[in-house]
Order: sequence, then C-alpha cells, then structure tokens
Amino acid sequence: MKPVSPQLPRRPIVHPPSEFSFGPFRLSVERRRLLEDGQPVRIGSRALDLLTLLVERAGRVVGKEELMAKVWPGSVVEETSLRFHITTLRRLLGEGADGPRYIANISGRGYCFVAETRADEGGNVDDIAGGADVRGGGSGVVEAKEKTKAMSTSSAPPTPHNLPARLTRVVGREDEFRRLQALVPAERLVTLTGPGGMGKSAVALAFAGRVLGDFPNGVWFADLSSVLGPGQIAGAVSHALALRPTAQPDRPFLLVLDNCEHVITDVTALVATLMRDLAGLHVLVTSRQALQLGGEVLVRLAPLAVPGPAEVQTAADALRHPAIQLFVERAAASEARFEFEDTHAPVVADICRRVDGMPFSIELVAAQVDALGVHGLLDRLDDGFPLLTQARRGVPERHRTLKNLLDWSFDTLAAPERALLKHASTFGDSFDQNALFKLLPCHPREGVLRSLSNLVSRSMVDVDVDAGPAGARYRLLETTRLYAATKPHSD
Ligand SMILES: Nc1ncnc2c1ncn2[C@@H]1O[C@H](COP(=O)(O)OP(=O)(O)OP(=O)(O)O)[C@@H](O)[C@H]1O
Ligand SMILES: [Mg+2]
Repeated sequence: MKPVSPQLPRRPIVHPPSEFSFGPFRLSVERRRLLEDGQPVRIGSRALDLLTLLVERAGRVVGKEELMAKVWPGSVVEETSLRFHITTLRRLLGEGADGPRYIANISGRGYCFVAETRADEGGNVDDIAGGADVRGGGSGVVEAKEKTKAMSTSSAPPTPHNLPARLTRVVGREDEFRRLQALVPAERLVTLTGPGGMGKSAVALAFAGRVLGDFPNGVWFADLSSVLGPGQIAGAVSHALALRPTAQPDRPFLLVLDNCEHVITDVTALVATLMRDLAGLHVLVTSRQALQLGGEVLVRLAPLAVPGPAEVQTAADALRHPAIQLFVERAAASEARFEFEDTHAPVVADICRRVDGMPFSIELVAAQVDALGVHGLLDRLDDGFPLLTQARRGVPERHRTLKNLLDWSFDTLAAPERALLKHASTFGDSFDQNALFKLLPCHPREGVLRSLSNLVSRSMVDVDVDAGPAGARYRLLETTRLYAATKPHSD
C-alpha cells in the first residue's frame, strides 16, 4: 500500500477544524453531529465516519482501502459495505439527478467530496440546532449562525428566529427552494400553495432555516393550524413578532404564517395591515388557498416526481427520484431490516404513482412496509388498502388520516362545490369543461364553472391551463377522487 502523505493545512492553525459547512449542512467533528438547515440529521455512525473523512479532505481523493481501514478498524469488510454506506450517505445528503453533488466516485481510485466546503475552528453546532423545542430556551428565540449564502462571511451577526425543530429532512424540492430563494427576499408576500399533504409546511420551514442570512431582524414562525378567528390569529402573530429585536426596526425580517387556509379571510386582512405598517416585513404563507392580495406571488407545490413504469430497473436508478427516496427513508424508519433492492424498484415506483407522488400518502403507505412488505403493499393497494382511514401516529389530528386531511378542505366547501367534486370523481382521468357540461346537462353552466374555479383555488382540483387547443384540462388527485367517491350525492 502506498504511504499516505501527511495533510498540510493551507494556513497555520493551532487546532484542526472541528466544524464544516456545505450546502444546507453543518458537520461537527467533535460532537459527531450533522445538521441540515439547523436541524439534526439521523445518521448512522459508519456513515458519519465516512462523511467526516471525506469532508476533512474535501477536494482530494480518498482511497477505498483507506476509507475501509479507518471506518472499520481491525475488521475485514467487503467493498459492497463501503458502497452501501456511500449510497446511504448520498441519499441522506439529498443527492439526486437534479440535486446537489457532494460525493464523486473516482473510478479505480476512491471517493472525493466535491461540494464547496467551509471549515470553522470554533463554532458550536448546537447554536443552530433548531428552535425552542430542542433547546427549551425561555423566550423561545434562538440566535442562529448564518447558513448557506451567509456562511461565506464569518463575521455576519447571528440571526434570531423561533423556527421549530424539524425531525426529518426534506427530500428533493431543490427547484422550489431555488424559486423561493429568488422570490422571498425580493417580494413582500409569497404564498406557497398546493393540495393538503403536498409538503407546503415542510418546505416553508426548511426554506426559512436556509434564508436566515437574508433577514437580519429575524425569521418568525407562527403555525395557525389550530387558531380560529381574528383574535387568535392576531395573538399568534404578535406573539411571534414580539420576539423581534427593537433596534433598527426597518431592517428586513420574515414572518412565516403556516397553515392558513381555514382562516384565509382573517389572515388576509391581518397581512394587509402588517405589510402597510411594518416596513421591513416579508411574509411567507403556506395555505391550500391563495390570499389574493395585491402583490402576492404564488408558488405552487406539485407532487414529487415519480418515474414512469419503464424508467427504473435498479434501486440506484430509482433513488434518483425524490418520491422514491422519501418512500425508502420512511420504510427504513418503520422497519429497521428494510433493504431497498433492485426488485423493489419498479414496485415502489408503482406505489408512489398510485398515491400521486404526494408526500403525506407516501409516508402513510411506507409506514406499512413492516407489516406488508413492498410487494404485499402493492397487492393491498389493488385490493382494499384503507388508504383514506389508515391512521398515523404522532401527528396532529387533521393529519391523522388522509380522510381527516381531506375533510379539512371538504368541510369548508359550499354545497354546489361538494356536489361538483362528487360528480368529477366519476372521471377516471383528466376532463375538460365540456365533459362536465355533458355530465351535468341540467346544471347552469356559469354555476358549474364557478364551482370548478372555487375547487381549483382551494387546491381540490388540479388544472392544466395550457393543455392544448381544446382548452384547460382538470384532474383530481387519485386520493381526492377516492375520497369524493365515498361522499353521498347531494343533488
Ligand atoms: N419533500 C419532503 N421530504 C420529506 N418529507 C416531506 C416532504 N414533503 C412533505 N413531507 C412530509 O409529508 C407530510 C405532509 O407534509 P406537510 O405537512 O408539509 O404538508 P402540507 O402541504 O403543509 O399539508 P396541509 O395542507 O395539510 O398543511 C409531513 O409529514 C411532511 O414531513
Ligand atoms: Mg401545512
């Protein structure tokens, strides 16, 4: 074996770096912790050892023998173990077809950490370990070290925030993060919209953790899912904003208003007032329905991309797709022995397609892998899996079942919209206005179109306005279709 040449730091330092930042991640070597957007990432100790070795020598190739000798000291291991852990690591870091690149395989030589990396000598990874939930601080405010863009300037002051800790990482969504990064610091009001369970809250929270550096007066979060009426909304928002520093009040700050659809009118009124009165305020809203305020910019969250039937032959192919990554991560969390094999790849793709690439449903079905196995799960989806009523644990009531999630929207619909949704559930595929008129010959057309437009604005029906010369085409997510079909006809 070739002798390994000693590592000479580029500039003399007394201690080797103990922390590294790359992308949204921060790695503490001493504490053996990895954070993404300030939140702890669950990572096995071998994968962490590998990551540390690679990051410490970022930009240089580390040989396979050396990696195996250091990560499995004193044992003889197969190269497949190394490959498996590298694959796991890439998945944890969110490497995908269009995602960031962190680890390159240098054929015949070894692996190289290729992402831009910054070494810190004295930082404390716990400073960005999330919000009050993690640290239990009295005021609920966390002074966060700047991340992402701001990490390149080590003298940047800390940004205060009250973002709650996230327990799991966000898979995929890099395009949406890029769009939000371009919009949120530039616009005053951005609304992240889309159907229930599509990941609006997950994306908004992760994004807020990434843009701390853009908002020197802090990033303030209020979950409105359990508030009712203007008094409670104002209370929740002023509670969050009261944490804001009072010096230089006009410096930019971000208010994230999460889960607003059930109180949309009152939220809209409050946001209009706040934007008029508070100069530095930027607002990011998550809601199944837009506020429809002047200046509002909408970002619509589509399903996670699912590969076509012939697109995935191997597990490695499949893991390039975020929907499948999410399934595999949740399945592995529910069943420790779960190993994603090549034979699973097309089946899991099929399962993800059946639930429309919707993260909520993917999590719901992946949690059943321990009881049914991957093939069994697909069989049960064909044959009576209780998709709508299968319960999840440890989540708020409105997310306990898919039925609860859909009730949350359905219960706010007026009678004609409920009736139209029921009728539309009879279409197996997409449909256009004429198909609806044919289905409902006795209904006035303007009424049908008004209800259809309301269902679209509430994210209950998806529309493709550029579908072709025949005009817009409409579609229900399969889960919404199943749900609506269970409702009695009201006319
Ligand atoms: N990209 C993702 N990666 C990992 N998990 C995700 C992702 N998107 C969503 N999830 C998970 O899916 C579930 C539903 O997501 P979330 O609560 O963000 O949906 P939502 O669109 O805000 O729904 P609602 O309209 O009901 O508020 C959560 O458990 C969330 O953690
Ligand atoms: Mg939400």
